[in-house]
Amino acid sequence: MAGKARGRKSIFITGAASGMGRETAKLFAGKGWFVGAFDVNMEGLQTLEQEIGADNCFIRRLDVTDKADFEATVAAFGAETDGKLDLLFSNAGIGESGWFEDVPFESAMRVIQVNFIGVVTSIYTALPLLKATPNSLCFITSSSSATYGMPRIAIYSATKHAVKGLTEALSIEFARHGVRVADILPGLIDTNILRATPNRSGDRDQPTEEQFYENAPKKGMFRLMPATSIAETVWRAYSSDKLHWYVPEDIAWIDRIKGFAPNFIRKQIGKRIAEGFFAKPK
Ligand code: NAI
Repeated sequence: MAGKARGRKSIFITGAASGMGRETAKLFAGKGWFVGAFDVNMEGLQTLEQEIGADNCFIRRLDVTDKADFEATVAAFGAETDGKLDLLFSNAGIGESGWFEDVPFESAMRVIQVNFIGVVTSIYTALPLLKATPNSLCFITSSSSATYGMPRIAIYSATKHAVKGLTEALSIEFARHGVRVADILPGLIDTNILRATPNRSGDRDQPTEEQFYENAPKKGMFRLMPATSIAETVWRAYSSDKLHWYVPEDIAWIDRIKGFAPNFIRKQIGKRIAEGFFAKPK
């Protein structure tokens, strides 16, 4: 046991500087796991390291769209864990919103690069470590927008459908390696992405912080939930064989109902979009 992990179970988290990834890092460190925390936001990683203790983590700047960077990062992490990885949390993501044609092509491609290609790259590079670890789990962040194609975040929603499909396929394929594969489909989680995602159509006022909380749904499947609810779900997922984790669980109804009432769901979503979600149409 040469590495810093000293035989502890380990988790490799992308998008660990903020939101769901950060809360997951804190929870797992608190449970005695060794945490690999990776992000393009180095400042966020450094404050995380201070919070959870340098001895309990390995931080490094990683852009998930860069395969060479990913390979070097996995190699450096593996050197600390004796080539083992119990849980890959492939979670980094970005958003773009607005009508399809208003989102610049390059921005749409960046969403695909981070949210889909980044996940694919994480699995290619981390698979040898997962295979070397009994009962390991590859856990991917999808979204409630992977239950039905969501207008005004169409490309984002498509990337989340892509990772959901990938999860289903690999959960069957990787059984022959003893590696479990599952995903999480969060509804509306109170993290920076909700504020950082630009509205490219300019037809809605950007809500102030106060309006944001005022307008946020207080009940129903799109009620605003804390990022800690995701961390707790990742923790439960590690001890389970379940494939899709909906947070909150009522999100699963969209997947169920759309099978026999597709027009009902389509109209409901259209209505919500017309009303505006956080931002009211001008
Ligand atoms: P967040 O914005 O707080 O965290 C995302 C993190 O990913 C940030 O720290 C960011 O720096 C990092 N990141 C972005 N591009 C990167 C890159 N190229 N390489 C490495 N790191 C990169 O937002 P949140 O909500 O914690 O997002 C985590 C995941 O959850 C994302 O995949 C997001 O799409 C997904 N999600 C979020 C929901 C929400 O309501 N907050 C709902 C459904 C899914």
